[in-house]
Amino acid sequence: MSTPHHKRLLTGLQPSGTLHIGNYFGALKPFHDAYQDYQSFLMVVDYHALTSLKDGAVLRENIISAVKDYLAIGVDPKKAVVFQQSDVSEHTELAWILNCLVTVPFLMQAHSYKDKVAKGLEANAGLFTYPMLMAADILLYDTDVVPVGEDQRQHLEYAREAAAKFNNAWGETLKEPKELILPSVGVVPGTDGAKMSKSYKNTIPLFGTKDEIAKAVMSIVTDSSGDTPVNVLAIHKLFRSEADLQALYDAHRGKYKALKDALVEDIEAMLAPMREKRAAISDDDVRAVLKDGATRAKEVASAKMTDIRKKIGVTL
Ligand code: ADP
Ligand code: TRP
Repeated sequence: MSTPHHKRLLTGLQPSGTLHIGNYFGALKPFHDAYQDYQSFLMVVDYHALTSLKDGAVLRENIISAVKDYLAIGVDPKKAVVFQQSDVSEHTELAWILNCLVTVPFLMQAHSYKDKVAKGLEANAGLFTYPMLMAADILLYDTDVVPVGEDQRQHLEYAREAAAKFNNAWGETLKEPKELILPSVGVVPGTDGAKMSKSYKNTIPLFGTKDEIAKAVMSIVTDSSGDTPVNVLAIHKLFRSEADLQALYDAHRGKYKALKDALVEDIEAMLAPMREKRAAISDDDVRAVLKDGATRAKEVASAKMTDIRKKIGVTL
């Protein structure tokens, strides 16, 4: 396979707590399958999290947890630069410069800002200028591709627009990045058949114990009118081939309990090794990974910032 190793990939992950299997198949696994084809940067966006989280203990725990999640699914910190956004102060520095290039009406058009405020989040200035911190995250590394979910497409447009405005004001300096909407399995359904989401309380935890997985699977809503429990089958498809499933579901027509038991075993077979791997990673292991990542990220970001400072006229 030809690998665009010279190309840079960068993504940011929200330190937002416990993951479910929808997150795994929709975001973590596609990232894991793609990152080694690039020079990759994986950043925990702790300063973005600050727009809505004001509890230090929770933030600290979530940062550590997010890194453990990615290491547990097999991301190799030697093959990707894994770091914390707040460790590289160039991010907030460039964000300020970009904020001086864009207008308030331009930022007003951000769907994500409007959605968050509509959901009741405080309309603080950090939330409002969120897209420019994200643009800085990306532009500092001359990033080629940014793997993100569909909901982040507009943020990538903002990053390109910020780069273009900078280049227009001070000359060609920042590279315009592209979003990489990775092929995922599509929307993973939850235990009620709707999209699996932490806000709907219909999740199967990614790193839960076998008992927790069993409890979630037993709560999958089944319809007694047919003899195939469609909601069970929809989740089962993520863990076993269609041919295997056909035989299994034919052999157990109408026996929902047996099919749910089989699903628990199949989920357990895939998740148990990752859960064990995660349990073996200590907080200090995470700190060491992030320290090394900060050094490597800083090297790239500070060189870029030196150039930016010269261009804008603050280096005398
Ligand atoms: P939640 O809906 O539980 O709050 P997030 O919005 O934090 O999940 O999603 C984090 C990542 O996981 C995003 O990239 C999103 O696209 C992906 N994701 C979340 N839920 C699903 C799902 N049910 N199916 C596929 N991908 C999902
Ligand atoms: N806004 C992204 C999200 O909510 C997180 C993010 C911040 C990000 N900075 C980034 C993603 C840079 C990609 C690249 O998921």
